[in-house]
Amino acid sequence: MSFLALAEARYSTKKYNADKKVPIELIDQLKAILRLSPSSINSQPWKFVFIGNEQLKSKLAAASYFNEAKINEASHLVVFSAADDIEKFEEQIQQHLPKGSIDYYHNFVKPTGSSQIKSWMKNQVYLSLGFFLSAAAEMGLDSTPMEGIQVDEYRKILGLSHHQPLFAVALGYRHSQDGNQPSLNAKSRLPEPAVIESF
Ligand SMILES: Cc1cc2nc3c(=O)[nH]c(=O)nc-3n(C[C@H](O)[C@H](O)[C@H](O)COP(=O)(O)O)c2cc1C
Repeated sequence: MSFLALAEARYSTKKYNADKKVPIELIDQLKAILRLSPSSINSQPWKFVFIGNEQLKSKLAAASYFNEAKINEASHLVVFSAADDIEKFEEQIQQHLPKGSIDYYHNFVKPTGSSQIKSWMKNQVYLSLGFFLSAAAEMGLDSTPMEGIQVDEYRKILGLSHHQPLFAVALGYRHSQDGNQPSLNAKSRLPEPAVIESF
């Protein structure tokens, strides 16, 4: 399928088939794909937690407002978090990045202050979301990106010490009657001239 056809076919799933689990080989591929996600200066300021365990998934579902039912029905939940301990992050880049990248960080990112540094790190995690959603679609999986989660509760439940959860993605196979699938609810987007210009 072309990438355009995938973009037309993927959608945010609102109801999952609770009886259909994603095979472990596909979960392993998604882990490998996330690890390869690009980031500014290859900074990789992130942590991805995959949850297939039903008990833990339902604990997180209970901290997910209106998303609770779909998380319980979905096969897996993936939690995306950004580094929020700047000192630890700087140790990591010091060990793993070439001098040019470290210099870029110290000359252009660090002087902007801790709030902007954290915002820059979060931007990298959002980029990995786009990568992940596209990969899942290509693998024939349905998904739902969700910012509607209690991030501090998630952090406690998952015991994350140096990373702050930003959003989660439910993963699985759609319920045949999910009313949000494009065949029942046509995709809605701004018209092309409103968002794209060419010269
Ligand atoms: C960062 C982000 C957060 C979102 N949060 C939620 C959410 O909490 N619950 C939900 O059902 N959909 C959520 N969505 C889905 C959007 O509403 C959806 O992507 C948008 O309406 C476009 O529809 P489509 O994904 O079906 O093409 C989120 C999407 C993104 C990218």
